[in-house]
Amino acid sequence: MAASGAFYVTTPIYYVNDQPHIGHAYTTLACDALARFMRLDGRTVRFLTGTDEHGQKVEKAAAETGLDPQAFTDKVSRHFRDLAAAMNFSHDDFIRTTEERHKVSVRAIWQRLVASGDIYLDKYAGWYSVRDEAFYGESELVDGKAPTGAPVEWVEEPSYFFRLSAWQDRLLQLYRERPDFVLPATRMNEVTSFVKGGLQDLSVSRTTFAWGVPVPGDPAHVVYVWLDALTNYISALGFPDTEGELYRTFWPADFHVVGKDILRFHAVYWPAFLMSAGLEPPRRVFAHGWWTVEGQKMSKSLGNVVSPFTLIERYGLDQTRYFLLREIAFGNDGDFSHAAMVRRINHDLANDYGNLAQRVLSMIAKNCGGSVPEPGPLTDADEALLEAAQALLPKLRTAMAEIASHRALELIWEICGAANRYVDAQAPWTLRRTDPARMATVLWVLADTVRRLALLTQPYLPGSSTRLLDLLAIPAAERSFAAWDIPLRPGTALPAPSGVFPRHGEPDAA
Ligand code: MSP
Repeated sequence: MAASGAFYVTTPIYYVNDQPHIGHAYTTLACDALARFMRLDGRTVRFLTGTDEHGQKVEKAAAETGLDPQAFTDKVSRHFRDLAAAMNFSHDDFIRTTEERHKVSVRAIWQRLVASGDIYLDKYAGWYSVRDEAFYGESELVDGKAPTGAPVEWVEEPSYFFRLSAWQDRLLQLYRERPDFVLPATRMNEVTSFVKGGLQDLSVSRTTFAWGVPVPGDPAHVVYVWLDALTNYISALGFPDTEGELYRTFWPADFHVVGKDILRFHAVYWPAFLMSAGLEPPRRVFAHGWWTVEGQKMSKSLGNVVSPFTLIERYGLDQTRYFLLREIAFGNDGDFSHAAMVRRINHDLANDYGNLAQRVLSMIAKNCGGSVPEPGPLTDADEALLEAAQALLPKLRTAMAEIASHRALELIWEICGAANRYVDAQAPWTLRRTDPARMATVLWVLADTVRRLALLTQPYLPGSSTRLLDLLAIPAAERSFAAWDIPLRPGTALPAPSGVFPRHGEPDAA
């Protein structure tokens, strides 16, 4: 069992045949927000991402560029590490399936499956889609294509099989015992009915190409790329050393976060492999939805692929993170459009949050000698705002337990709205002349509310939140959720305020 307080979250590992797009950035961003939230909340977090570098698809892509697969993957895997840096992802480890530590782990899981009697040699005759790296039965094809629309080819070759059929009852029992094994709940139903429909044994080796991990004892075969790829989640914890610190602390994973297209691999095949190998299945698999672009499927052939690098350059990093996390409820599909992005940047970030912080900080700079004002007695309105802000943290914990970053942001913005209405109602600019002591109280209430908002926006908008916390002179030791109830200290000198969320289309110094 994972030690209490430990939290392990993983992203899928990305195929390196392609340039990263917003779909790829999205899965890792969701995990990044979750990992950052849990760290701020005092958990010992391990956050893993990486690249999936074996298999026919990558071998083909390498051949098209004229590079050998290793040189190709070295080159293209870099783009995903660059993306992680550009998006300010806080992963603890980045695994590549071409690394030795991973190959050792794949060989070890293979041997465990053999030892459990679940591997046998036979012959595969059926359809294969290189794009999906998946086998399809005749009855699954739609107009001669995979159900995903990917082209298929006929494959006939000797193959090792995994006795997946033998695991049907154990899988159904796992789903019954842990109804939140797959989230959202509708996806759990999908998975359950797929398994109830009957499971065929799964081909887990290939012989018609060589780019993969050779099967132990039979190097004419390479291990099927999905068995290879899924194993990354434990390779990165030092498997096969199940007594090692990392494995003992972090396995089973708290969340494998994946797109809906690869749920079956994670919620059916992977737990079956693990149980057969005598290892614990992960705790939960979350399947998120897909982004379309201006109403259309994103694809190279349509030429509408949105690059996260371009978005960051054009709109800013935290602006991009905010849009992706807020625009769609995590789990649902959603649409990317530039108009929607500009709306979010200007309304939510610049008008609501940025303007609140800027108004409060500049009034303090001008009217309170540039240091945190001293509050006097509190009115009902003051208490109401402070209490509403205080109540946010437990609500966010509930939302983030289901990776609902969109909900967390909605809740934060509700308080942002309440604080903006409070400024208008209290009119501190008038109090400056009529009742300066009351003005000081109002500005303190607002500044402490901005402190709480900035603490909570750290997982989603890490750079901007840090700037806001700097502007409030919050010491480094008081930026975790443990400092939630440590209020701003009157008299603390504040740096000169500057705008944190510029409007799009206007110069930076908002
Ligand atoms: N290599 C496999 C995963 C192996 S995990 C053991 C793979 N890679 S992928 O690069 O094709 O996809 C990685 C992730 O990107 C998937 O979770 C997929 O759902 C996600 N997305 C790809 N396109 C997407 C959108 N248009 N929208 C949202 N996410 C999308 O599958």
